[in-house]
Amino acid sequence: MMNITKDKGMRPFNTFRMDVKAACFIEYASLEELDSIFASPEEYPRPFFHIGGGSNLLFTGDFPGTILHSGIRFIDEKDGVARVGAGVVFDEFCCWCAEKGFWGPENLSLIPGEVGASAVQNLGAYGREVGDIIVEVECYDTVDRCIVRIPVEDCRYAYRDSFFKREGKGRYIVTVVAFRITREYSPLLDYGHVRESAVAAFGADVVEGGRLTPEMMRDLVISIRGDKLPDPEKVGSAGSFFRNPFVSAEVYSNIEKVASRDGLGPVPHFPAGDLVKVPAAWLIDKCGWKGHLEGNAGVWHNQPLVIVNATGKAEPEEITALENKITSSVRERFGVELSPEVEHVPAIK
Ligand code: EPU
Repeated sequence: MMNITKDKGMRPFNTFRMDVKAACFIEYASLEELDSIFASPEEYPRPFFHIGGGSNLLFTGDFPGTILHSGIRFIDEKDGVARVGAGVVFDEFCCWCAEKGFWGPENLSLIPGEVGASAVQNLGAYGREVGDIIVEVECYDTVDRCIVRIPVEDCRYAYRDSFFKREGKGRYIVTVVAFRITREYSPLLDYGHVRESAVAAFGADVVEGGRLTPEMMRDLVISIRGDKLPDPEKVGSAGSFFRNPFVSAEVYSNIEKVASRDGLGPVPHFPAGDLVKVPAAWLIDKCGWKGHLEGNAGVWHNQPLVIVNATGKAEPEEITALENKITSSVRERFGVELSPEVEHVPAIK
């Protein structure tokens, strides 16, 4: 049954826990219900905005239009391809794979959000991006009112980026995602300290002897994340607030100069073609923001890439004010322009 509510409180639907209202909120449970909305869109306040778990967005105030949310929830597996409904919680899919002994999404365990949004954002962690295991994305085309199946080659996946965030934005709604999963031994250990942590947790003989399981990797990732990131049940946030910037060789050499002048130690960096990827967490940390509290908004003490609703009472303006201060200080000190990873949802003016 389609669930339509006017003036809906959005606090439970965004992990930042912004206490704003949407003029209209609809949760649909099937394609037929979704199609019925676009058969007579004039019946609903505009614009339409589709959310997943609300874990990568910031409501900047009350929303004047209609928020859509998918209730399409199922997982089917055949011949190593799992078809998963957009409304399934992504971590439930990770858990399902681990329990059944399938490799694929285990390094993405505990990331908040839903399957539909994962395919839009190209969610990633610990050496795995979701685009690496997607086979195709099934979408509802809101213009032609039909289902289209977009093969992964056409999804234009890149770091936290996709076709759905660019050309396809506003037109396509993800309904089902097909993932390639496998029982063939394939742990991903080469990101940061993952291998080291696996050896510490399970022993070198298990790790090097090929005796890890998807469930063990899932448990490991959950413990690494738990140490660094706020518990979403206790502290509101939208995970990483900023993208890691890719800078030119010239900008990078400026960062190194500042670091050496100010005794900041070696600059962590990862070459990426002509560009260099520098962790935003390091830049923000070196500007002194770690653990900083400003009114009800704060910067997480263990991961400065995460802005938090520290008291649970932060207003959207407090979050954006802190965001702007962080962006300005990184620009002034290092000459790097940070861009938010979190999507800002426009509000009633
Ligand atoms: N660092 C500091 N100070 C800190 C923390 C980190 O200087 O307090 C530096 C360190 O040099 C560290 C580096 O930042 O090596 C990078 O940290 P890490 O690899 O742990 O994570 P990240 O690059 O900050 C990205 C994703 C996370 C994902 C982790 C793990 C983005 C924007 N974020 O963060 O994703 O969990 O890698 O793969 O790419 C999310 O998107 O919400 C998210 C949490």
